Amino acid sequence: MAGASQEHMAEKRKFQAIKGTRDLLPPETELWNHVEQTAREVFGTFGFGEIRLPIFEPTELFARSIGTDTDVVAKEMYSFEDYDTSELLELLESRKAALAWVDSPVSPPYGPLGAGAQAIFQPFSTAIGNVVRLGLDAFQKGRIPRTPDNERLLTGLKDGIGTFVGSINSRSLSENRQAVNSLKGLVSQLRFGDSLCLRPEATASVCRAYIEHGMLGLAQPVKLYYTGPMFRRERPQKGRYRQFYQIGAEALEAITPNTDATKSLGKDAAVDAEVIEMVMTYFARLGLEGVQLDINSIGHSAPECRRGYVEKLKAALEKVKGQLGADSQRRIETNPLRVLDSKLESEQAIIEKLPRIGDHLCADCAKHYAEVKRQLELRGVAYKENWRLVRGLDYYMRTTFEITARGLGSQNAVCGGGRYDGLVELLGGPPTKGIGFAIGEDRVILSLLEAGKGSAAQGRDVYIAWMGEKARATAIRAARDLRQAGFRVELPPVEQKFGKALGQADKLGARYALILGEDEVASGEWTVKTLADGTQRKVREQGLVESLRAGSKRQEV
Ligand code: HAM
Repeated sequence: MAGASQEHMAEKRKFQAIKGTRDLLPPETELWNHVEQTAREVFGTFGFGEIRLPIFEPTELFARSIGTDTDVVAKEMYSFEDYDTSELLELLESRKAALAWVDSPVSPPYGPLGAGAQAIFQPFSTAIGNVVRLGLDAFQKGRIPRTPDNERLLTGLKDGIGTFVGSINSRSLSENRQAVNSLKGLVSQLRFGDSLCLRPEATASVCRAYIEHGMLGLAQPVKLYYTGPMFRRERPQKGRYRQFYQIGAEALEAITPNTDATKSLGKDAAVDAEVIEMVMTYFARLGLEGVQLDINSIGHSAPECRRGYVEKLKAALEKVKGQLGADSQRRIETNPLRVLDSKLESEQAIIEKLPRIGDHLCADCAKHYAEVKRQLELRGVAYKENWRLVRGLDYYMRTTFEITARGLGSQNAVCGGGRYDGLVELLGGPPTKGIGFAIGEDRVILSLLEAGKGSAAQGRDVYIAWMGEKARATAIRAARDLRQAGFRVELPPVEQKFGKALGQADKLGARYALILGEDEVASGEWTVKTLADGTQRKVREQGLVESLRAGSKRQEV
């Protein structure tokens, strides 16, 4: 018995929220709801409607939009193969057997093994043979992806196993081991299902949905917002989690051919400015403190614009390569713009002297950027220009922006966004423009808590302290009526001594205790105690709701 319960204890200790994830609990969840509700209200006033998206999507959707060289895609995705295990049971078993197999050495690893050696490798060749037979069958039936890669791998395995079996005797142990490893390599590359991933962000999903639902047929721009968890395998720290929550918004607009370029630049700039105005209005409504908006333009991908600039930047970086840290040195090759993001103290003075994108924008991008700034000024939105703001996702062009807030330490960006014309097309849709942002909800909450704006315990409005069987029915009725009137009511399931009941009411932060003893039930005169000051008054049942409402109003004043 003792052993069994110890086992249970050990099991219990095993279950903890996974690193980088956490439980959100009341009363903090009240603040989360408030933050989300305020977003719904403010975004609604700007004409944005809610879109609810799946949590997982094809890995390729994000690889293509965010870019394969970005940290998010290269290092931080939670991806997995999706297949029906029951259909592939035998194939999965054979793969496992093939990959797990190791020989038990019977001869020295040099010199041909000679006759009889085949027996050593028999289990392995059988397992590979099964992988080939079952794999080809599953491929033909479409139970595993019918990709050129899978076809190549299966053919390679079929040929490879024949050659392998035929030459075991004439090969040394180490040569045979090498052959085993290369066959294992082919097996492990076989894909049994589509690669899916937990979404690291939602802009790509919104674009997918825009295409999938033919939203270009709707009034443009299509304005959508979303809330929900995103997943990135980052190193957790304050304000950075592996499951975190975003509140985002996107405005998508089909590009109509033959539109006047100047007009369309002005229109885009106005949309950009309004989207930024919306998020700033939202932060102001929440009372977020120390909010700062940084903006930049990263131009568009053309030789006379960003591409030309990146060449110049790369050349300049090459000249100072020796003075840069390992990360930046690597980025000169993979993504030179990201060097500008560096927070490394020793690199700051060097970065300040690098060529700036603002001096290399093409005429249209420069015009668009100037108009965005003018439109922000028209709206009374204060901003700071930051030429180093390039953002970590590949899909951006022209406007990029980031908003920081107080109380967050190094992870102080509460919102990031920008324009991404062309992304919908990259995902197979029609030519489309886009601008949007995502707010890090976890960070907004942290900042509000830090400023003491979320600590109001949720508590209860009324605690019903009832005593005696006769009072039970009255208490149940009172609870029902009060709840219907919108009060938060705690009705203890069993009677309690009044002293204990009042202690409990205090603990829950209740404002009133409704005292229902036998006397109250008999006389119809109920007692309401205001817990903050201990005063009591008598109230009749019909007047209860009114009396508590009036009391609440007085307290609010
Ligand atoms: P992002 O800059 O990758 O942009 O993320 C936006 C915000 O999400 C960040 O500013 C931060 O507040 C929050 N965030 C990101 N990673 C984490 C994390 N690991 N833990 C906590 N918070 C985090 C995007 O996701 C783009 N989709 C934004 C966008 C929408 N651009 C255009 N439309």
